[in-house]
Amino acid sequence: MKLTGKTVVLGITGGIAAYKACELCSRLRKAGAETYVIMTKNACQFVAPLSFETLSNHPVVTDTFARPETWEVEHVALAKKADIFVIAPATANIMAKMACGIADDMLSTTVLATKAPVLIAPAMNTGMWDNAATQANAETLKRRGVHFVGPEGGYLACGDTGAGRMSEPEAIFDAICSMLCPVQDMAGLNVLVTAGPTREALDPVRYITNHSSGKMGYAVAEAARKRGANVTLLSGPVQLNAPEGVQVVDVTSTQDLYDRMMEYCEKQHIIIQAAAPADFTPLSFAEEKIKKDDDGNITFIMKQTQDVAQAVGKRKLPGQVLIGFAAETEKVNEHAKKKLAKKNLDMIVANDVTMPGAGFNVDTNIVTFITEDGMEDMPQLSKADVAEKLLDRALKLYRK
Ligand code: PMT
Repeated sequence: MKLTGKTVVLGITGGIAAYKACELCSRLRKAGAETYVIMTKNACQFVAPLSFETLSNHPVVTDTFARPETWEVEHVALAKKADIFVIAPATANIMAKMACGIADDMLSTTVLATKAPVLIAPAMNTGMWDNAATQANAETLKRRGVHFVGPEGGYLACGDTGAGRMSEPEAIFDAICSMLCPVQDMAGLNVLVTAGPTREALDPVRYITNHSSGKMGYAVAEAARKRGANVTLLSGPVQLNAPEGVQVVDVTSTQDLYDRMMEYCEKQHIIIQAAAPADFTPLSFAEEKIKKDDDGNITFIMKQTQDVAQAVGKRKLPGQVLIGFAAETEKVNEHAKKKLAKKNLDMIVANDVTMPGAGFNVDTNIVTFITEDGMEDMPQLSKADVAEKLLDRALKLYRK
C-alpha cells in the first residue's frame, strides 16, 4: 500500500465540494494512510462528521462543541502527527485566515501550528477566486511554500462557469502521493535550468528588462529536484525563494547568463532554458546618470546580445538533451519550430504570451511541446504541472 506509515491530516471547510472529500478520505485510507479529519463548523453543514469518522476510522475533530481550551492540546498533537496537511475543499475564508495567520477555530489553529507540508484544494465561486484579495492571499501562501492543486475551470454548483471548481479527489490524491513519495526517476542526473528575466543597464540607475517572473523556470527546477536530479538554476533577478536543495546561481545580464552557462553546460545531462534573456543591450553604458535635456527625446543604440541557447546548441555533447522555450505573440508554432532547428534543441516549449493564463508572471501556462517528430498541445495547467509534463518528455528524450 502506497501510503502505509504516513499520516495525513485532512481539513474540510464549508463548501458544496465537501462531499467529494469523502472519496478522498476513503482513497487515503485504502492506500494505507492514517487519516485524521478536522471539520469546520460550516463544513458540518454540508457533510455529517459521522461520514468521515466511518471513512477514516478515527474520531473527527469539529468545533461544534469544543471549548477553546481543548484546542491547545489537540491542535498541537495533530499538527505534530501530520506528514502532510491537506485542506480540501479550501474556501476563500480559510485561505484568507492562513495568509493572515488567524487561528480562531480548530482547523485554522492546527494548520498554523503544523510544520508539515501543506496542500490546499481551493473551491469557491469564480468571482471569489478571481477577487484581488483571494488572488493576493493565494500568492502569499504560495510564496510561503503552501502547495495548491486546482482550482479547475468549469461549471460550478452556484450556476456560474469559470475557475473555482475543486480538483477531483483522484487529482488531489495524486498530488498527496507525489508530495509524500516523489518518484526519483531523475536521480543521478545533472539538470541545469534557466529562469527569469535579464537586466541590461543603460546607466548606473536604469535598465531594460521584460516581464518574466521566473515562476516557470523555478517550477521546473523544483520539480526536477523532487525527482532526484542535481539541479543548477541560473536565475535572473526575481522575487522568488530558492527551491530547497537547488543550487541557485544569480545572473543579471544576458552576458552573465552566457558566461555562467558556458561554465556549467558541459557537466549537464539535461538543460532546460525557461529564462527570458534580453535580446538587445545598449551599445554603450553611460558611466554617469543620463540627464534630461530640452529636446525631450532620447535615442539609444542597441546591439544584439549573445544567443545563449544557440551557443549551447553549437557545443551540444553526445547524449545531452537541450530544451528551450519560445515566447511568441503570433504564428506561435511556426516561429517556435524555427527556433527548435536554429538552436539545435531536442524540444521547444511554445507559449503564446498574449493568452490569458499563459506566459509571463502568472501561475499557469498553456504550452505546446514541439520536437522534430511532432507537436502536443496542452490545456491550461499550473506551471508546476507543466514542469512535470516537460520533465516526463525530457526523460524520454534522454533515454532514447
Ligand atoms: O518567468 P515567467 O513569468 O514564469 O514566464 C515564463 C516565460 C514566458 C518567460 C517562459 O514560459 C518562456 O517562454 N521563456 C522563454 C522566453 C524567451 O526568451 O523566449 P524566446 O522565444 O525569445 O527565446 C527562445 C529560447 O532562446 C528560450 O529558451 C530563451 O531562454 C533562449 N534565449 C533567448 C534569447 C537569448 N539572447 N538567449 C537565449 O538563450
